[in-house]
Amino acid sequence: MVKQVHLAAHFPGVNNTTVWSDPAAGSHIEFDSFKRFAQTAERGFFDFLFLAEGLRLREQKGRIYDLDVVGRPDTFTVLAALAAVTEHLGLTGTINSTFNEPYEVARQFASLDHLSQGRAAWNVVTSWDRFTGENFRRGGYLAQEDRYERARTFLQTVNELWDSWSGVSVVADKESGRFLSEAGPGRFRHEDRFFDIEGQFNVPRSPQGRPVIFQAGDSEDGREFAAQGADAIFSRYATLTEGKAFYEDVKGRLAKYGRSRDDLLILPAASFVLGDTDAEAEELAHQVRRAQVSPQTARNFLEQLWNTDLADFDVDGPLPSFDPAVEGDLISKGRASVRQLAKDPVALANEWRAKAEAEKLSARDLVIEVTGRQTFIGAPATVADRIDEFVQQDVSDGFILVPHITPDGLAPFVDQVVPLLQEKGVYRTEYDGTTLRDNLGLKYP
Ligand SMILES: Cc1cc2nc3c(=O)[nH]c(=O)nc-3n(C[C@H](O)[C@H](O)[C@H](O)COP(=O)(O)O)c2cc1C
Repeated sequence: MVKQVHLAAHFPGVNNTTVWSDPAAGSHIEFDSFKRFAQTAERGFFDFLFLAEGLRLREQKGRIYDLDVVGRPDTFTVLAALAAVTEHLGLTGTINSTFNEPYEVARQFASLDHLSQGRAAWNVVTSWDRFTGENFRRGGYLAQEDRYERARTFLQTVNELWDSWSGVSVVADKESGRFLSEAGPGRFRHEDRFFDIEGQFNVPRSPQGRPVIFQAGDSEDGREFAAQGADAIFSRYATLTEGKAFYEDVKGRLAKYGRSRDDLLILPAASFVLGDTDAEAEELAHQVRRAQVSPQTARNFLEQLWNTDLADFDVDGPLPSFDPAVEGDLISKGRASVRQLAKDPVALANEWRAKAEAEKLSARDLVIEVTGRQTFIGAPATVADRIDEFVQQDVSDGFILVPHITPDGLAPFVDQVVPLLQEKGVYRTEYDGTTLRDNLGLKYP
């Protein structure tokens, strides 16, 4: 059978992908928004809904960065509520392995798996920075180089807790008065550098045995962590060349952990803009980009690379002629800023200046170019073809779609692109099974 496309939907938390100023945009915190979004995804037979995590309001120049959607409600609260208004949709929550405890996280996901009848997934992230840690008792106690070591033992411990009820079931036999099939379930003892815990886990084995595990991190350590223990990766590489390279790299790491290539799905984040024709979609995409990158957003983005106050800088003119400040604390806090990603800020500034000059771009146009976010642009048939092509060529196993309008921006995709993928025979016309593992084609532990 031809390779099948997996689709999922990301309800954006805090970012400038979401055009909150659009007249069609709704609330980002009211339950009705989450519900409409989830039900649209389920109508399109999506595998799951995805929530990212951000544990502190971001800052720039010592002030709250309030150009994006600010704040987000707690993951478990949202996902548990969504479990009640959906039937098939997987519920994936991003929860970090640094500021939490295995017992608590294992309980929360096992509970969500029970409540949703087997639809829970955990995206394990390793945020470790002191700025985020200040919100917690632990502060900045974890060195960056230890983040995956803690994640590895954290996940191992959580798996031990989930497995601690193996072979024990709740029989609740009213006749005999016997409640459990075996005595003494849930016993665990775990000791390593990070955890020294023992006791009895108090949630019976959940429908998926172990909820599905996602990973989202890009370093060498992160890729190894995923290859060793994750069921899926939420990646940032949705283009042909980068996506293929990432796909090959990570899938190539599985064998050494005794795993096959099908044991780990690669699902990049992707955005889309649809139009009646390709030309109309291109025009619309241009407008969306200008709404996503307002003059203030462009200025703030440039401040992140230059690490300099550019309050008076005209973004309709050329890029700053002076070089980024290399020394000193970063003025942007709590976001994966371009400065954290750029190894050599001066080299990157030079590269951007050369590009802007060659292509006659203003500073804002340049920001729009280098932060390009629309993965799929075109008429529905063009987008369906492209998605299919990417999946067949192993750029990915599918995509986690991030619409620029929430909660209703997903509906055009579901109504116009999904039927075309179905016609091609690369997308389901009904859910494969009852659990998220069934639908993702993943083994049960
Ligand atoms: C596509 C992608 C999505 C991520 N989403 C989140 C997130 O929602 N919350 C978070 O705290 N960190 C998130 N991260 C950050 C990672 O969990 C990790 O902390 C960071 O990437 C550093 O790990 P690395 O060095 O392996 O990349 C994300 C990373 C990637 C690549």
